[in-house]
Amino acid sequence: MAALSIEQVVAVIGAGTMGAGIAQVAAQAGHSVLLYDAAPGSAEKAIAKVANGLERLVERGKFSAEDVAATLSRLTSVEGLEDLSPAGLVIEAIIEDLDIKQTLFKNLENICKANTILASNTSSLSITAIGENLERPENFIGLHFFNPAQVMKLVEVVSGSASASSVADSAFATAEAWGKKPVHAASTPGFIVNRVARSFYGEALRVLEEGAVDAATYDAIMRESGGFRMGPFELMDLIGNDVNLAVTTSVYNAFEQAPRFKPSSIQQELVASGKLGRKSGCGFYDYSEGAAAAGVTTSAATPPPESVTICGDLGCASVLVELIEKAGLRVQQKSSDSDHGYLEVGSAHLYLCDGGLAANHGDNAIAFDLALDYEKTTRIALAPVASCDPTALASAVGLFQGLGKSVSVISDLAGMVVMRTVCMLANEGADAVDNQVCTEQAVDTAMCYGVNYPAGPLHWAGVIGYGMVERVLDNMAAVYDDPRYRCSTWIRNKNL
Ligand SMILES: NC(=O)c1ccc[n+]([C@@H]2O[C@H](COP(=O)([O-])OP(=O)(O)OC[C@H]3O[C@@H](n4cnc5c(N)ncnc54)[C@H](O)[C@@H]3O)[C@@H](O)[C@H]2O)c1
Repeated sequence: MAALSIEQVVAVIGAGTMGAGIAQVAAQAGHSVLLYDAAPGSAEKAIAKVANGLERLVERGKFSAEDVAATLSRLTSVEGLEDLSPAGLVIEAIIEDLDIKQTLFKNLENICKANTILASNTSSLSITAIGENLERPENFIGLHFFNPAQVMKLVEVVSGSASASSVADSAFATAEAWGKKPVHAASTPGFIVNRVARSFYGEALRVLEEGAVDAATYDAIMRESGGFRMGPFELMDLIGNDVNLAVTTSVYNAFEQAPRFKPSSIQQELVASGKLGRKSGCGFYDYSEGAAAAGVTTSAATPPPESVTICGDLGCASVLVELIEKAGLRVQQKSSDSDHGYLEVGSAHLYLCDGGLAANHGDNAIAFDLALDYEKTTRIALAPVASCDPTALASAVGLFQGLGKSVSVISDLAGMVVMRTVCMLANEGADAVDNQVCTEQAVDTAMCYGVNYPAGPLHWAGVIGYGMVERVLDNMAAVYDDPRYRCSTWIRNKNL
């Protein structure tokens, strides 16, 4: 289905954070855009804000003054809903309230042409429910932009049960023509991003509740080893703990209180005490003036071991063998009966985290965490068995320091930090595919372009190996005795 032709007028309703950005995107793409807001003066103010932002981009050489003038000439504020009648596409970005949105779209059906596409930018309401009482629900879809809409590439094109596939396809092609990365999704709680991303926060909060790792060290491991732009605690503080908790609670309730979405008591307490994050000056971190930066647990310098014995196949961590050789350490190879390889360093037995406790791997067992790229990572986390001999731990720390990495030693923690996060993100993405919400590719596109993850969770699961992901989740389910970690059927089927 073709994209909306450039001659078609686009209307945006709600000139707040999202509406202003969406109007800018459509105008930049060449459409005449009508912007309406119920609060008098808001649409004009939003256009002035867009002009301001674009002028700053001209100063930075990103746009020509002519392009900006042309974009602004296509943006018009209007005073009444009835002024939106010429629109071929209407995108609503008003207050998140089902009744108000339902009423708005019913009114629009009487104002707009019969073939006008009506779209909602809702983050959390059901597209099926908003379109329930419409006369032409087939023309109604979700177009979920991400904040800031003029910057973020992802648009979730959400189909309710009555949305016509031709309408969703046309909206998809239009978003593509606007320079976005659209994905199709069925109307289900959280669509793709807000559903799959819950594990990113949920696992971090779970670990904090256990007291296994402090927030600053957890964030450092996620950034440096996992390749995420921000760790979950600093990101929750940026988003606002109240906002993050509200999204989690809404997804939890919409999924009939499934254990994996359970809101964390730590976050609830923070919100109750007004510690909302950056905006209130305190959250997981203290942002008050003069507050000391939270320290990251990093091991002191330790000499590298003289030799390393590689036993069997290290799977997705195999590149470590090459890195160890390059670092000039003596390498010996030993065959292993185990289906998962390990490293012997002095009396330490180092293995890639498999979701179980190091205690299951015997004396001096030390798990190391998953890294996005073992060569480039600047930090690696180690989780030794509680009774680990200090000299064995020193050999393991020295090994990774000899490869140029900082080392964070954490408690014996099932799933560690990056491994648990990636396996749970993949598990949720797999469930979304299994539940017919979207395709495998859409999960990865959504998480890379909607929340800037360094790799799509399902692609990453393939790199780890689906067998290994299944093993990590099964081991975590056994350690915690918690259905939260039950492995998706879709992942199990990958291994058949
Ligand atoms: N803020 C985000 O990060 C984000 C991201 C994606 C989607 N969304 C969704 O986008 C929508 C808007 O969010 P926002 O953050 O831009 O809100 P906002 O509060 O910044 O802006 C909402 C605007 O809508 C106007 N408005 C309210 N009721 C109206 C009505 N009946 N008719 C016309 N105008 C009306 C308000 O005056 C306000 O200017 C919500 O559905 C939200 O869930 C928000």
